[in-house]
Amino acid sequence: MGCNEIRAGIVGVGTYVPERVLTNADMENMVATSDEWIRARTGIRERRVASAEEATSDLALVASRRALEDAGVSAGELDVIIVATNTPDMLFPATACLLQDKLGAAKAGAFDLLAGCTGFIYGIAVGAQFITAGTARTVLVVGAETLSRIVNWKDRSTCVLFGDGAGAVVLRRVPGDRGVISSVLRSDGGGGHLLHMPAGGSRQPASVETITANMHYVHMNGREVFKFAVRVMGEAADEVLHQAGMGREDIDFFIPHQANIRIIEHAARKIGLPMERVAVNVDRYGNTSTASIPLALEEALQRGKIADGDNVIMIGFGAGLTWGGLLVKWYDYKNR
Ligand code: UT7
Repeated sequence: MGCNEIRAGIVGVGTYVPERVLTNADMENMVATSDEWIRARTGIRERRVASAEEATSDLALVASRRALEDAGVSAGELDVIIVATNTPDMLFPATACLLQDKLGAAKAGAFDLLAGCTGFIYGIAVGAQFITAGTARTVLVVGAETLSRIVNWKDRSTCVLFGDGAGAVVLRRVPGDRGVISSVLRSDGGGGHLLHMPAGGSRQPASVETITANMHYVHMNGREVFKFAVRVMGEAADEVLHQAGMGREDIDFFIPHQANIRIIEHAARKIGLPMERVAVNVDRYGNTSTASIPLALEEALQRGKIADGDNVIMIGFGAGLTWGGLLVKWYDYKNR
């Protein structure tokens, strides 16, 4: 690294999950499933569900306020707000703009980022560029979802998987060799049909027919997405490391997207990391899409799993299809 190189890093983290817990036992009363099947196939025990009054921007607001407080930054200092979500409050305006208003972030530009469950990785990669380019000093990146609003609660193959939640981080320039070292963003739109919500856009506007045909729900070919996830997690890790001139042995902690414990364990084996150095929250929150990585990050920090200078790798995959990774040399902003 040249001594004048500017690096963006995480200087504040905040999360929020709704209060209501839906356990596997609750799911047994809703669809033909069992706690045993869900735990064995996914690792999920329970998930959170937003209240009727809560939309994505509300979850994002609590997480964002907590991240700002953690960073010691006021909303008025934000230059850019990026909300990665698959479940915006509405098609437009952007949920990021609704959040900007609720926060009172008077001078921030705000936009949504749609990259499936990889949205948080994309968001950090994009947000970091503003800082390294010198066009922004303070960027807020949020992953927030109310997936409970778009799952078909009668479809057991999807409704047991997802949960609601939000996580936010504040990005700023960090000193020395800390911060985002490398990032990899990938996509394959040819697999878009494997995980999508078919109606409600310009291709299939909402109509009585689309509603009757359940086209406003998540549709997923789970088996194909599983195979794709297992393939790209290891690839993304290798690419991120290659870009940084590092090897697998240099990774201190791994934060994978939380979709299925079997995918997480497979990726950890491939990368060669013991599970103590891998973040897992899928058991308690299910798949919270763009919120899963920041939720797991905050928990790892609270548990003291990440120390200053650690090389933390974050890998995501999801609808698009998209996948990507980040390598962050942790900056211990708490003890600066
Ligand atoms: O964020 C990215 C988004 N998504 C993912 O990462 C999901 C990736 N995929 C997966 O995690 C897994 O494919 C699932 C958890 C979705 C499914 O697990 P699987 O081991 O691939 O099961 P399967 O789809 O092959 O289904 C096996 C059986 C089927 O019955 P038959 O056809 O063998 O008789 C399903 O009908 O399990 C049945 N099944 C269920 N049984 C009880 C599907 N869902 C359920 C359920 N409870 N909830």
